[in-house]
Amino acid sequence: MAFRPSVFIFDEPTANLDPVGTLEFFKTVESLKKTDEHTIIIIEHKLDELIHLVDRVIVMGKEGVKLLEGTPYEVFGENSDLLIKNGIWIPQTALLAHKLVQNNIKLNNIPLSIDEAYNSFKKFKPLGNGLKRENCTELTHHSSPVLDIRDLSFAYDDKEVLKNLSLKVHKGDFLAIIGANGAGKTTLAKNIVNIIHPPSGKVFVEGKDVLKIPTEELCHKVGYVFQNPEHQFIKNTVEEQLTFGLQSRGFPSEKIVNWLDSTLEKFKIKQYAKSSPYMLSHGQKRLLSVATMLTLGQDILILDEPTFGQDLKSSNELLTFLKTLNELGKTIIIITHDMNIVAKHAQNVLVMAEGEAIFNGSTHKLFKNNSILKKARLTIPPLLQLSVNLSQYYEGWNGMATVEEYVNALKPLKQN
Ligand SMILES: Nc1ncnc2c1ncn2[C@@H]1O[C@H](COP(=O)(O)OP(=O)(O)OP(=O)(O)O)[C@@H](O)[C@H]1O
Ligand SMILES: [Mg+2]
Repeated sequence: MAFRPSVFIFDEPTANLDPVGTLEFFKTVESLKKTDEHTIIIIEHKLDELIHLVDRVIVMGKEGVKLLEGTPYEVFGENSDLLIKNGIWIPQTALLAHKLVQNNIKLNNIPLSIDEAYNSFKKFKPLGNGLKRENCTELTHHSSPVLDIRDLSFAYDDKEVLKNLSLKVHKGDFLAIIGANGAGKTTLAKNIVNIIHPPSGKVFVEGKDVLKIPTEELCHKVGYVFQNPEHQFIKNTVEEQLTFGLQSRGFPSEKIVNWLDSTLEKFKIKQYAKSSPYMLSHGQKRLLSVATMLTLGQDILILDEPTFGQDLKSSNELLTFLKTLNELGKTIIIITHDMNIVAKHAQNVLVMAEGEAIFNGSTHKLFKNNSILKKARLTIPPLLQLSVNLSQYYEGWNGMATVEEYVNALKPLKQN
C-alpha cells in the first residue's frame, strides 16, 4: 500500500490472518474505498465481513470460465443454488437461508448480512432446541491421554515463545487450537511432532517422552500437516509425493497404485499426477499436503490451517473426512483461524495468547467469554452473532452458531 496505486488487487489477503486481523484489514479496505481514489479488486473465499463493501462480484467457474457477474444480491441472493452446487462460498447468512428454504421454511429474500438476516428472521419463533450448544455436556475422560504436555516452555534463541503450557488430549478428541497470529500455535505443534525439540519430560505421546520415540515410529503415530504446504513437498511429482510414504513402508505396488488412484480422485488432483507439486494452485497444494499426511493411517492427526484457500466444497469434504476419521477413534487437532469451523466441528478448544494457554474448554463457554476472545484476537462466528442479536427480541434464539443448529431450532416452526 505504500505505493498508493490507483488499482489494488488483493489475492486472498486474509488467508492466515487471525479473526480480528481480518476485520482490521477489511476496515482498511473500507477506508480506501471511502477516498474514492482507488479501484479495489479482492479475490476472497471469506465473504461475511467483506460483502457490504462490494459493488460488483465476478464468480469464476472451472477452467477460467466466468460463471456469474452482478451485484452481491444478484449473485449471492438470486443464485445461491448454482453457487453451492459449484462448491463456491457464499455468505453464512445466505447459506443458512438456502438451507431453511430447502427445509420448506419460507423467506422473502436471501439475507447477505447479519442485519438483513436479523430483519428476515425476527418474525420467527424458534421452537426446537435439538442441537443447541448449551445442551452439550463437557466430556470427562477416564482413560490416560494420548497426548500429554506438561509445563512446556520453548524459546527460539532468547525469544520465549511457549510459556509453561500444559495440555492433555484424549483418544477421539477433536481439538481446535486457536489464537492470534504469533501466539505460538505452530511452535506448539512442531514441539509435539519433535520437529523442534522440546526439553525432555515435557511432551508425551501415548505415555512416552517424544524425545525417546524414534522418528519413524513417531511419524506413524502422529501425522502433521504443515501450515505452509510447500514445506511438506520433497518429491518431484504429485504422484511420487503421494506414494513415497507407502513405498518406504514396503507396501505391494498393486496396493499403492489402487490407493494412489482413489486418492487423486478424492482430492481432485488427478490431472496433475505427473506435475510438480509446486505447479498446483494454493488450494490444491493444501489438498496434496493433507493427502500426503494421511497415507500412514496415524492415530493422531495435527493439521495446521487445513482449510485455508479452500472453496466451500473442498473445505466441507475435508472436514467431513476428518469427522469420519474422528468417529473411527482418531484424535484430531486442528489449528485454525476460522471460527465457523471451530463452532461446527471442535469438541474442545485450546486458546493461546503470547505462548500461554489461556482457555481450555468447550466452544460454548469460549464464545461467551469476551475477555478471552479479546485477549486472543478472536471473534464469534457470524451466525452466533446473529443469534445474540435475535435473542434480544426473543430469548429462544440464543446460543446458535451453525446452520444445522438453526435448522433444528426452526424445523418445528410456527410463524408468528
Ligand atoms: N524459526 C523461528 N525463529 C525465530 N522465531 C520464530 C520462528 N518461528 C516462529 N517464530 C516466532 O515465534 C512466535 C510464534 O510463532 P508461531 O509460528 O508459533 O505462531 P502462530 O500462533 O502459529 O501464528 P500464525 O497464526 O500467524 O500462524 C512468533 O512471534 C514468531 O515470530
Ligand atoms: Mg502458525
